[in-house]
Amino acid sequence: MARLQRLDATMRAAMRHFCAVVLAVAAQPALCAAADAVEPALSDADAACLGCHSMEALARSLPDGETLSLHVAAGPYARSVHGAFGCGACHADIDASVHPAQGKDIQSRRQYAIERAEACGLCHADAAERHAGSVHARRAAEGDPLAPLCSGCHGSHAVTPRTAYETCVRCHSADLAAHAKWLPNSRTHHEVVSCAACHAPEAPRMIDLRLHGGAAGWVVEQEGATPFGELARAADADGDGLDALELRGLLQRINRDAPGPRRLRGRVELREDVLAHGLLAREEAIRACDSCHRYGAEPFRNVTVSIVGTDGRPLRYPAKAEILGSALAVESLPEFYAIGGTRSPFLDLLFLLALAGGIGVPAGHMTLKWLFRKHRARRAGSGGE
Ligand code: HEC
Ligand code: HEC
Ligand code: HEC
Ligand code: HEC
Ligand code: HEC
Ligand code: HEC
Ligand code: HEC
Repeated sequence: MARLQRLDATMRAAMRHFCAVVLAVAAQPALCAAADAVEPALSDADAACLGCHSMEALARSLPDGETLSLHVAAGPYARSVHGAFGCGACHADIDASVHPAQGKDIQSRRQYAIERAEACGLCHADAAERHAGSVHARRAAEGDPLAPLCSGCHGSHAVTPRTAYETCVRCHSADLAAHAKWLPNSRTHHEVVSCAACHAPEAPRMIDLRLHGGAAGWVVEQEGATPFGELARAADADGDGLDALELRGLLQRINRDAPGPRRLRGRVELREDVLAHGLLAREEAIRACDSCHRYGAEPFRNVTVSIVGTDGRPLRYPAKAEILGSALAVESLPEFYAIGGTRSPFLDLLFLLALAGGIGVPAGHMTLKWLFRKHRARRAGSGGE
């Protein structure tokens, strides 16, 4: 600790000098005070780097007229998955003994980001290799400045396991609406099918049944409570994956000390997260309805039950595929009816009738929905929840 304080003092002195000489912002002491906010969890070396780089105003201008912000927020960095590795893990070329005097030639923000993203691949070769074959990597190589590099989806200094999902929508919100042209109930589909389940067509898929608390959203594991994995193992008496009865027992156990009823919501997901990098162009995307809406379709052959872990990663426990079609599971899965995929041949027939009939998908879909509502209501009525 003493060492850290000494370092801090040295750093503050260096910074004051730095603020005055290099940045010419000495008149704004508040900016320089930001350095005091360095998190204790950081190594001395990182704290030293952040002594300067946690200043929000730290920036440099580039030959193309852009400004490259040199600010790195200390807190999010320390809490990120990489906080323990040190700045040098991705910036091995920085030599503290000559930095920052020995400035670097940086042409543009994009060029710098492309160079730095190379570092990610050193530790994540699998992700990097798959990303390299993706439509984004191809567009980036063609010079599209908006096509995401690793940092475009995960960020660079605040990487957490949960960063990626929402990011697709950030860049593609307009494209989402376009799905409605051919996909009935596209909003429902976007909720229950991950983007990559259709856009990484070569990846094996599965159904993940995730605990949902209604208005409270996805259920996140609480610190101090019995871990989900432990509860699931206890429920799975024979240790071969949860069957319908065991799943019901698990839910009863979870609901016993939950503030509100917790139920499962199904999502079509990839079996391995890393395969989410194999995103191909739109022509290759899965659009055939029967790749999901068919009895025994590929995604429905593997099932997991999950909860969101404290760090945002899903904690998954295997379940038997039969639970999706089981009457016993209906009350556990009241909101999940991938027509054809999960249920009886009767529903297949409904689906086919809706698609045939010559009335086109939207009209067919309305009929289907109407029929389905009745069916659903009946089930809910007899389910006795
Ligand atoms: C005394 C203040 C100071 C300290 C301490 C400092 N930097 Fe910098 N850093 C700067 C300035 C100023 C620049 C812009 C210099 C330039 O590129 O001309 C910069 C640029 C950078 C850049 C972008 C340009 C490049 O070379 O890639 C990175 C990355 C960087 N620093 C990382 C670090 C790391 C890692 C450490 C700790 C080992 C560190 N810095 C310590 C002030 C500092
Ligand atoms: C997990 C890898 C990783 C770690 C660890 C990391 N950086 Fe970076 N850093 C990057 C990437 C990637 C970029 C390129 C920016 C982008 O793509 O948005 C970058 C860019 C920068 C820049 C240029 C400004 C910017 O944000 O674009 C600075 C300064 C910098 N890093 C400093 C640091 C410091 C200081 C640390 C340690 C506290 C650190 N970095 C730790 C990956 C990392
Ligand atoms: C020095 C090796 C190293 C470098 C370089 C590195 N990472 Fe990591 N990364 C790791 C390790 C180890 C973990 C697992 C940390 C953990 O489990 O808490 C990790 C975790 C991750 C995760 C979360 C994985 C999960 O399980 O959900 C993502 C996303 C990630 N890194 C992306 C990146 C990106 C993007 C870059 C470049 C900006 C990068 N990494 C650079 C070693 C590295
Ligand atoms: C188009 C967005 C996108 C880009 C670009 C991207 N990723 Fe990912 N990444 C994802 C998604 C989606 C996941 C799945 C997990 C999730 O949803 O957060 C993921 C997961 C990961 C994981 C965790 C994998 C696992 O097995 O748990 C790592 C590590 C990772 N990415 C690293 C990288 C690296 C390195 C790059 C650059 C070569 C990169 N990513 C580029 C979207 C992206
Ligand atoms: C930083 C912005 C950004 C993020 C984040 C991003 N994309 Fe993209 N994406 C682009 C750009 C730019 C293109 C190329 C231009 C285009 O074709 O629309 C593209 C192209 C695509 C294409 C090909 C479209 C076509 O016309 O063939 C698909 C599919 C796609 N992205 C899916 C995704 C998915 C899924 C995610 C999340 C895992 C994601 N994107 C994240 C910017 C982004
Ligand atoms: C049910 C499968 C499915 C899901 C889920 C899905 N897509 Fe698509 N997406 C497609 C198909 C098929 C196309 C090609 C449409 C066409 O060419 O008419 C497409 C087209 C696109 C395009 C190209 C632009 C366009 O207007 O055609 C982008 C970008 C895209 N999707 C991104 C996403 C993102 C981001 C998500 C997740 C939020 C997502 N998609 C979810 C199947 C899907
Ligand atoms: C990648 C898998 C996948 C593909 C491809 C797919 N769907 Fe779906 N669809 C689902 C899932 C999962 C649900 C379940 C939603 C629920 O009830 O929770 C669903 C629900 C539906 C529903 C019922 C919506 C509701 O609100 O109850 C209709 C209708 C439907 N899909 C029609 C189609 C049509 C038509 C196509 C082809 C143009 C298609 N789907 C392609 C996975 C898919």
